[in-house]
Amino acid sequence: MTAQRTHARTQVGIVGAGPAGLMLSHLLSLAGIESVVIETRAREDIEATIRAGILEQGTVDVMVSTGIGDRLLDTGSRHDGIEIRFGGQSHRVDFPSTVGRSVHLYPQHEVLKDLITARLADDGDVRFGASDVSLHELTGTEPVVHFTDADGRPTELRCDVLAGCDGAQGTTKWSIPDNRRTDHFRDYRHGWFGILAEAPPSSKELIYAHSERGFALISSRTPTVQRMYFQCDPEEDAGAWSDNRIWDELQSRVAGNGFSLNEGRIFQRSVIPMRSYVCDPMQHGRLFLAGDAAHTVPPTGAKGLNLAISDAVVLAQALERFFDDGDTDLLDSYGRTAAQRVWRAQHFSWWMTSMLHLAPDSGDFDRHRQLAELDQITGSAAGRTLLAEGYTGWPIARTNPKSVVAEALSLTHSRRP
Ligand code: PHB
Repeated sequence: MTAQRTHARTQVGIVGAGPAGLMLSHLLSLAGIESVVIETRAREDIEATIRAGILEQGTVDVMVSTGIGDRLLDTGSRHDGIEIRFGGQSHRVDFPSTVGRSVHLYPQHEVLKDLITARLADDGDVRFGASDVSLHELTGTEPVVHFTDADGRPTELRCDVLAGCDGAQGTTKWSIPDNRRTDHFRDYRHGWFGILAEAPPSSKELIYAHSERGFALISSRTPTVQRMYFQCDPEEDAGAWSDNRIWDELQSRVAGNGFSLNEGRIFQRSVIPMRSYVCDPMQHGRLFLAGDAAHTVPPTGAKGLNLAISDAVVLAQALERFFDDGDTDLLDSYGRTAAQRVWRAQHFSWWMTSMLHLAPDSGDFDRHRQLAELDQITGSAAGRTLLAEGYTGWPIARTNPKSVVAEALSLTHSRRP
């Protein structure tokens, strides 16, 4: 016998408890708007998934100004620049002196822990471990989500607006009919071999390295755990590599000027594909997509999490207007406003990727051209400023000055030295 469906109602139904969904729920709660977050994974899985760790200045401002930035300021580290390494030498790009902003190194799962703690402390409704999620009646005024909760109870959630925040593998975007949706897709035909190693940092700042063997990135997690990547074939079998072979490959890509990496036990490894995707439009009826559900970027430049946060800020402002005045103007323009930043980030990630990676069919000409571009970008104030502007992130659109998040951000800006 099938169990009876439980009925529930909320103002905003949010599918997915990643950065976009949880941030949206957090911002809405500050504005007094009710939401229910439905997530298929368990809380422990979400809090343990390792992703990139660079927070743009705007993301830091949103977290601090909305009361979830304490751990970030305590345990994250501010980075005022990056090193671009080519021809065996490092070239530093400074952020404060070029654009007056910085970034913070603070892993994504720590951001998620802070968001989950805040939601639960504020009596937020987050349903982990859900299954069989499906969306209905999107073009009416009361869209519906069906799901089975963690205890096996079939549930129907009715809401005013739905947010699809279920990540790159999510299915909410497929609710936009094929004849209304354009999928902009690009495959870079290489991957990143990523490792976590028990070792002290090799550098105070991140190193993005171009070499004759391909790209490498030296990042960090804690004083005793380092995160590193090198460009590889997307089909590479990470398990087939010995630790020695991995270290030799990384060392060869950063070699020069007597520099070498601190090595240690490798305790996690995986191959990450390099892809770009944009779903156009980002909305359909009362469904609005945010974060990786609507777009993915290659990891070069670490824009994914930051885009999720800026989408959530733009969508929260539009929803505040809708629930305050019944006005749909900002909801109607949400996709266009968000897409402007998404395409800037797509360009930035593509540009960093194309400047630093060896394409499978590239030859000597391309290598010389890349070196000339790197020389130009790091060797001129204009070049360094362009790179720093994209890396630290563009201002997040403030479309609704009356919204709680826009007000909080204005206060933070006026306080910043
Ligand atoms: C990371 O620390 O995992 C990281 C940092 C910067 C990137 C990508 C990944 O561009």
